[in-house]
Amino acid sequence: MNVDFKGDRVISNTNDDQSLLELALENGIPHIHECYGSARCSTCRVRVLEGAANLSAPSEAEKRIAALKGWPENIRLACQARPSGDVVVKRLVLDEEDIQLAWSEVSRLRSGVEKEIVVFFLDVAKFTSFTERNLPYDVIHIMNRFFNRLGDIVLANQGYIDKFIGDSIMALFGIEDQSIDAACLDALVAASAMNRELESFNVYLREQFDHEFDIRIGISAGPVILGSLGHRDNAHYTAIGDAVNTASRLEHANKKVQSRVLITDRIYQLTRDQIQIGRTFHARLRGISHAQPIYEFLDVNNELRSARMKSAETGSVENPAARRAALTRDLPVNLPAWETDNDHTEIGFEIDYLTTSVRGIFRAHLVDIRYDETRPQETALNAIIKTSSIDTFVSARDNHLRSADFFDCEFFPDMTFRSSGVTTVSNDEFVLKGDLTIRDTSRSVELQVRRFPALADAWGVYKQGIIAETEIDRYDFGISFNLPLQADRLAIGRTVRIKLILQITPAAPAAD
Ligand code: FES
Repeated sequence: MNVDFKGDRVISNTNDDQSLLELALENGIPHIHECYGSARCSTCRVRVLEGAANLSAPSEAEKRIAALKGWPENIRLACQARPSGDVVVKRLVLDEEDIQLAWSEVSRLRSGVEKEIVVFFLDVAKFTSFTERNLPYDVIHIMNRFFNRLGDIVLANQGYIDKFIGDSIMALFGIEDQSIDAACLDALVAASAMNRELESFNVYLREQFDHEFDIRIGISAGPVILGSLGHRDNAHYTAIGDAVNTASRLEHANKKVQSRVLITDRIYQLTRDQIQIGRTFHARLRGISHAQPIYEFLDVNNELRSARMKSAETGSVENPAARRAALTRDLPVNLPAWETDNDHTEIGFEIDYLTTSVRGIFRAHLVDIRYDETRPQETALNAIIKTSSIDTFVSARDNHLRSADFFDCEFFPDMTFRSSGVTTVSNDEFVLKGDLTIRDTSRSVELQVRRFPALADAWGVYKQGIIAETEIDRYDFGISFNLPLQADRLAIGRTVRIKLILQITPAAPAAD
């Protein structure tokens, strides 16, 4: 039997137990195989030019990936296909650029599809006057704080944050498997929650800055094209279509009619029994030729709100209120609450790889600390870290780290740390003991903590610096993926060195 890797070489007298990938690698062909043959990355794909019937049938994993990408039958995964007769194939992933594209295509968000979804535009009003009256540091700090809270609400309601544009947010609802009716309700529940968040945030803003924000929201539904767009190093999952323009124009129209949330007729018709509306308009939105009914959304009805609150109480991991409540549950109430200043906080790690190491950070985390500088021995700290926010500065590697070989983010979206006690070492050093949970496996760990003298920054905001370090054996948490090397060596170390650099500041009042 001959296996012809067109453009590489012909391999004769092959053993029919071997996959195309194994044959290629054994014979010195540099066949790319980013997931090491586990049918996840698709980088080993080949085009079958002749002899398709001489290849084994696709495995279930291969069928899944082919369906996701909409491949024709002559595209096969070399790691899954085993030849039993003559075959001619051509490798399709040849360089780093191809690898990155392949990984981005196997994201759970389908690229290049048309779907009816809900598009949500929010703009922060009275923002310009805030920037004029305050220092740049405060502007960025406050906006990030507000955006974090609004973004949490999008995520809690099954939304996707498409982008932040200046003082605006664009979000999408219904891009995965929800029906359009459910997506409309998710978006309206989010708008209602943002209204309440605004009231709470304004209490803080009035106290600290003698200012208030307002928000304007436009929500539309309609068919859009979804996909990853942009440069390969900066591609971004987004939506293109009239519904995007309509939502943006509705957001603008709020200003003219002095409303806060405007929705289209399609949204209204799909949710009319479950929402309260105010005024109705017939208007021609800028860029749209015909007049259409537009509704002022006031709130969701009480039954829907209480049903959502009930589900929040059951503790869905994506619900920020439930997450915060779960995080705070066993922290001491007699100590002041602190939160991280995320511009100056880093949750990082380092692991040996071959002759050097790989370092990375987790960008999304929620940390609640109870701390009194006169009683450091009573310090308590709970944290939730979003596993998918891992960033090792190489996107193909990050995608592999998010896969089932490592964090399996789809099934284990969070890691948690929950402290259980402190042992004092010196005035500025102590050991914080607690349970670290990764992939639903909990192990006791000890964080070596150093604290630095507290200071008020240039704007009078009180800050405390803390560095906490520990080491864990990743195999203890079921993360044992590795790459065998010569002489029984392994490419990736077992020990992960974790370092938390935290700048903490007294917590703002919580949202109701
Ligand atoms: S090596 Fe075949 S799918 Fe990854």
